Amino acid sequence: RKPVTLQRLRDMRAAGEKIAALTCYDALFAQVLDDARVDCLLVGDSLGMVLQGHGTTLPVTLEQMSYHVRCVARGNRWAWLIGDLPHGSYQQSAEQALASACELMRAGAHMVKLEGGGWTAATVRFLSERGIPVCGHLGLTPQSVHALGGWRVQGRDAQEAGLLLQHARELQEAGAAMLVLELVPSGLAAQVSAELDIPVLGIGAGPRCSGQVLVLHDVLGLQTVRTPRFVRNFMEDAGQIEKAVQAYVRAVKNGRFPEEGVHTY
Ligand code: KIV
Ligand code: NA
Repeated sequence: RKPVTLQRLRDMRAAGEKIAALTCYDALFAQVLDDARVDCLLVGDSLGMVLQGHGTTLPVTLEQMSYHVRCVARGNRWAWLIGDLPHGSYQQSAEQALASACELMRAGAHMVKLEGGGWTAATVRFLSERGIPVCGHLGLTPQSVHALGGWRVQGRDAQEAGLLLQHARELQEAGAAMLVLELVPSGLAAQVSAELDIPVLGIGAGPRCSGQVLVLHDVLGLQTVRTPRFVRNFMEDAGQIEKAVQAYVRAVKNGRFPEEGVHTY
């Protein structure tokens, strides 16, 4: 078995082979997910909500992200490892973003992810020109939840949709190697995925993206608050963590998850 590389992910995108990604925050789960052949492990700043019990991702620090990336890197062998740049660690300047990204790369990340469109293009260019693979994140960007007025579907009207598409093009143009689309109508996500050459991972973005990403604990049915409609509990049928993760990978690969009209907007 070979490690998942950026080239491999690009090939999968080109061949129409779906990419299966999950969030991961520690070494043991990294081993479990990696063994189940999850293509990408995302050390998401969602850990602020899932592990730390905060109501948003805003309190998460770079030091905490670095710690969790280190943990995941120790348990992982083959998967592509993405680390989230937390709130406040990249907005100030491209130089600040580079220093933060280097911290996560030293911790073992293969790629960093940052949220937002427009102003982020220059930062994405700065990092990717310096050899750091960058993943963009558009749609509902949780670090801006207060500015966005809550956890709402993004890009519903034509103007918002047009802007999102433009931002997606700009990120690819700037060198982004991947894009996450969160909470957008599946038609818009399909349009973005079709137009871009880079892999697009959807979460609450419908089945026509190049791949899917979900929060691990949601997949395992461990959500204690309300479960968003785009989530499916894979533990229900599997009854065992390893089997649930395998079922998720299988469902993403064969296009049975997410289901249009069930998990979509
Ligand atoms: O932090 C996270 O888990 C994420 C995914 C939901 C895309 O950014
Ligand atoms: Na995140």
